Amino acid sequence: MKAKVTAHSRYMIADIDKRIYGSFLEHLGRAVYTGIYEPGHPMADESGMRRDVIELVHELDTPICRYPGGNFVSAYNWEDGIGPKEERPTRLDLAWRTSESNQVGIHEFADWAAKANTEMMLALNLGSRGLDQARAFVEYVNHPGGSYWSDLRKKNGRADPWDVRVWCLGNEMDGPWQIGHKSALEYGRLANETAKALRAFDRNLELIICGSSNADMPSYPQWEATVLEQTYEQVDFISLHMYFENYEKNTAEYLALPEKLDRYIGTVSGVIDYVKAKSRSKREVKISFDEWNVWYHERKNDFERMAEWNWPHAPALLEDIYTFEDVLQVGCILNTFIRRSDVVRIACIAQLVNVIAPIMTAPGSGAWRQTIFYPFKFASTMGRGTALRLDVESPSYAADVAADVAYLDIAGIHDADAGTLTFFAVNRCGDQSMTVALALERFGTARSAEHILMQHDDLEARNTAQGPNTVVPRHGNGVKVVDGGLELELPAYSYSVVRVQL
Ligand code: AHR
Repeated sequence: MKAKVTAHSRYMIADIDKRIYGSFLEHLGRAVYTGIYEPGHPMADESGMRRDVIELVHELDTPICRYPGGNFVSAYNWEDGIGPKEERPTRLDLAWRTSESNQVGIHEFADWAAKANTEMMLALNLGSRGLDQARAFVEYVNHPGGSYWSDLRKKNGRADPWDVRVWCLGNEMDGPWQIGHKSALEYGRLANETAKALRAFDRNLELIICGSSNADMPSYPQWEATVLEQTYEQVDFISLHMYFENYEKNTAEYLALPEKLDRYIGTVSGVIDYVKAKSRSKREVKISFDEWNVWYHERKNDFERMAEWNWPHAPALLEDIYTFEDVLQVGCILNTFIRRSDVVRIACIAQLVNVIAPIMTAPGSGAWRQTIFYPFKFASTMGRGTALRLDVESPSYAADVAADVAYLDIAGIHDADAGTLTFFAVNRCGDQSMTVALALERFGTARSAEHILMQHDDLEARNTAQGPNTVVPRHGNGVKVVDGGLELELPAYSYSVVRVQL
């Protein structure tokens, strides 16, 4: 199979906001307890944080991390997680039917985020609570001192404010499963009033309103129109979420789903433009795609187990073990964000540790990289710069979500400072390799090119505690520098990174 791609130095999409490689940690299952935090573990530091996990987070280089939920946040009292640990209450977490010990709260998470080199992105509870507790929390976190909440933070051991810039106004408020679920109008009004109060404190905060929980919600996309109409002048982002499933075990259909993601982003981008025009506004609202990942391997099973159990603390939950097939999917998802980087300025893989996550841990034992760790790491560390508007000619196939799914899924980035071009390419064809003629126009001479390849004969291959290196990247030999460009040889069902030094 043959494909042709042209990259031109003047055809650009946008400077990528590195926050599209963000992540997410929720008080859910073992994400926090025995994930990032495990006092007594041989690798725990003086605060009980696992150093082996922090090292893996460094490797991912995720610039921002959303916390503390997710569905959890919609019945969370942030004050339960401050002050002496022995005095913190155990609460029932209604979202996941578990017990929350509150041994990790904002102070512990902030310390961990500093060690992990990631900025905090905090979510506010607009489900069971509202404006007043939201403003108190922001004051606690961001005010230097001389007020009730900021002085309480100092008393609790943190003198300087953390100066968190990015705040989520609730989580998935369109979802009937959400504690404190609201109609679009109810939520839009509450979010607007909360945003006004937060802006009265600091007009430069970056505020995110909830869009739809997924593109199949019955209220989508009217939800987006209504909440944006209520909030447009007060907010900076609208959040979207999407999880990818392959219950039918149909790889072609599964790998076509990023076309649906692309359309979802395009539609919401259109709704933003519509509300902007309607309200005669000059404001730019962007998309925060703050939950995305593959989530189906353990999903049904988990919901059945949850219904039966008796409020356990930090049980194994949503511990999907990812496959090689999921590498291809995560590669295509990240490519979609790069190609939509003009409008998607934040995106968070959901989640980071143990819960539908690239990093896994065993309590009292080791930590390892899931298969999807690698495409995320490569995009996060090598996918920074300016996204290129590539011209792609590829054979395609028909799927349920789109009539024309290109077998070649590719994104390109130019880093002018480093003098590099980077391409992430997925061959979505399972029975043929693909030869790609990649023309490079007006970038200067390509001096060398490196090829990193992920390919496995078994789409179901996984990394586990016992076999953590079953699916790993290797150096490929499928890239040749030819006159005026590159020739790529992409094996059937493969993920490639091509880095060109100019
Ligand atoms: O990431 C798991 C859950 O998925 C989150 O708590 C929720 O926001 C979404 O439905």
